[in-house]
Amino acid sequence: MNHDHITSARQLSRSDIETVLDRAAEIAADPDSVANSHEGALLGLLFFEPSTRTKMSFSAAIKRLGGDVVDMGPVDSSSVKKGESLADTVRVVEGYADALVLRHPSEGAAKMASEFVDVPLVNAGDGAGQHPTQTLLDLYTIRESAGLEDVTIGIMGDLKYGRTVHSLAHALTNFNVSQHFISPDSLKLPRKVRYDLHQEGSTVKEHTDFDPILPSLDVLYVTRIQRERFPDESEYRKVAGEYQIDADTLASARDDLTVMHPLPRVDEIAYDVDGTDYANYFEQAHNGVSVRMALLDILLGGGQ
Ligand code: NCD
Repeated sequence: MNHDHITSARQLSRSDIETVLDRAAEIAADPDSVANSHEGALLGLLFFEPSTRTKMSFSAAIKRLGGDVVDMGPVDSSSVKKGESLADTVRVVEGYADALVLRHPSEGAAKMASEFVDVPLVNAGDGAGQHPTQTLLDLYTIRESAGLEDVTIGIMGDLKYGRTVHSLAHALTNFNVSQHFISPDSLKLPRKVRYDLHQEGSTVKEHTDFDPILPSLDVLYVTRIQRERFPDESEYRKVAGEYQIDADTLASARDDLTVMHPLPRVDEIAYDVDGTDYANYFEQAHNGVSVRMALLDILLGGGQ
């Protein structure tokens, strides 16, 4: 894999993806093999939006490789409050760290910021744009549970604002996967994403009804309605609570269906699904550490 920065899933070829996933599988099987392989490496964390999993699993990943984090902390206690630009912030922090992880509310922020730094910069979510490391852990989880060949996946929920959806849909065009997109009309894939997916050879199949498509799915990827991205709260309220699943809803699913969710969930997946064999979302979140260890190991130069 030969990328200076990871800003979008669209830049990842099938071979890039397989390199990271294979390395993650090796690390998951034998974490001790890489413990301390990046001793002293520092990862700069710049999170301009809330995060639990992404930030903590990147922290866990670099620490398990023997490194540590330097964390900007909450935006409110940083110089961003004094009016510092993103370009200036990343140019300063690249002097403190060997790689940077950036989450920002503006689409395109990571790509823009990457143009100002020489250390690797990883996009941990840019508005409704992309979230490529989530995609890598999603692909890892799909490969482990259903495989990435001849698979039918349903992606459901907020397809308009969901950056995990945009990233994953692009990455899946590298594999023999049939993609179905299930959402209310108002939260369909943005036209630009649909167009790009067509260009990349995907047949985009869109549905508003979930029940007819459910029995054909190997994987169901459920997403949260991205309340914070709605320009108008009343628009959010119109769609909130749509497309919830529970154990009863899944009665017509295949026995080996895998239910995934990038998390956090609000009410899209009822708690009674957690105890079923379908539920794979906590495992999915746990996979984030091995996958981010693999990516950091590659970006930081393969260890010692
Ligand atoms: C996602 C995100 O931030 O886009 N969370 C995550 O990183 N696992 C999904 C979401 O917030 O709904």
